[in-house]
Amino acid sequence: MRIIVDADPGIDDALALYYLRAHPDTEIVAIGTVHGNVPVEQSTANALRLTERLGIKAPVAKGAARPLAQPLMTAEDVHGEDGLGGHAGDDPTTTHTNESAAEQLARLARANPGELNLLAIGPLTNVALALQIEPHLPRLLDKVVVMGGALNVPGNITSYAEANFWHDPEAADLVLQAGFEDLTIVGLDVTMASHAPGEWLEALPETNYARQILGFYADFYGSFLGRTGFVPHDPLAAAILLDPDLATYREDRFAIELTGRYTRGALVADQRFLAEGSPFGRDIAIERTKARYAVTAQHEIFLDQLRHAVTQP
Ligand code: BDR
Ligand code: CA
Repeated sequence: MRIIVDADPGIDDALALYYLRAHPDTEIVAIGTVHGNVPVEQSTANALRLTERLGIKAPVAKGAARPLAQPLMTAEDVHGEDGLGGHAGDDPTTTHTNESAAEQLARLARANPGELNLLAIGPLTNVALALQIEPHLPRLLDKVVVMGGALNVPGNITSYAEANFWHDPEAADLVLQAGFEDLTIVGLDVTMASHAPGEWLEALPETNYARQILGFYADFYGSFLGRTGFVPHDPLAAAILLDPDLATYREDRFAIELTGRYTRGALVADQRFLAEGSPFGRDIAIERTKARYAVTAQHEIFLDQLRHAVTQP
């Protein structure tokens, strides 16, 4: 499977790269970076650092520095000032390419119609911009897996919104209405339930880099969940891209709430049981292509795979 990764590394973004690297039949074709967990300068430097550390031979293109329609907001409280829990380390020795992440995505999709898959694990600004450059993007990509949303569970960054969608609600809504035919959304309904306990972390050698960066992230989760361990959002999305059978899904049409005072950035679906011919109209335009939203995942299998991925040399 050939994959373009769009990410805001980010501690769990780093884990997603570990996860993909551990699968020999998987090729990371390119990486695009975006604002989100940290400003894009930092997420780009981190993506370069991670490709160097993990031996991933993929170009890194720097993406959007801010959301489409709101000020930049970042999440250093979750990922640390450097985005890697205080362990980013030295400056990268490699540099990002000259095109933007959106240009890279549009160009690669055009050059390889139907062959590339997209794993988007940050705010969706770059994907929305790529749709402006190449309106046929939904037909040119094969599978698209997005980490975002909280459908039937509370949000994380606000009581209704999940962080990736909340960091750029307009971009997320553009992506959901763009007509991607094979679109899977991996949200908090499954990622929170995949919580890795403290013992998972403690079983890793102290010198293990994944364990080191996860310390800050686990402290953050521990501070409000009342238990040790961490939530592996982005690597679960990577796992579901490689193996869709790892999850079960609700198929529906989705939108992002753009105007709610308390609910801006929330993922919504019309979940009423409306029989054919019902007098009630659908709240979400039926023109929107259906997407799959993950509702259950095989957490134990996934966490074993993740342990294997982060301990590979
Ligand atoms: C998402 O937000 C970021 O903090 C994580 O990297 C993940 O992509 C989880 O809500
Ligand atoms: Ca992320």
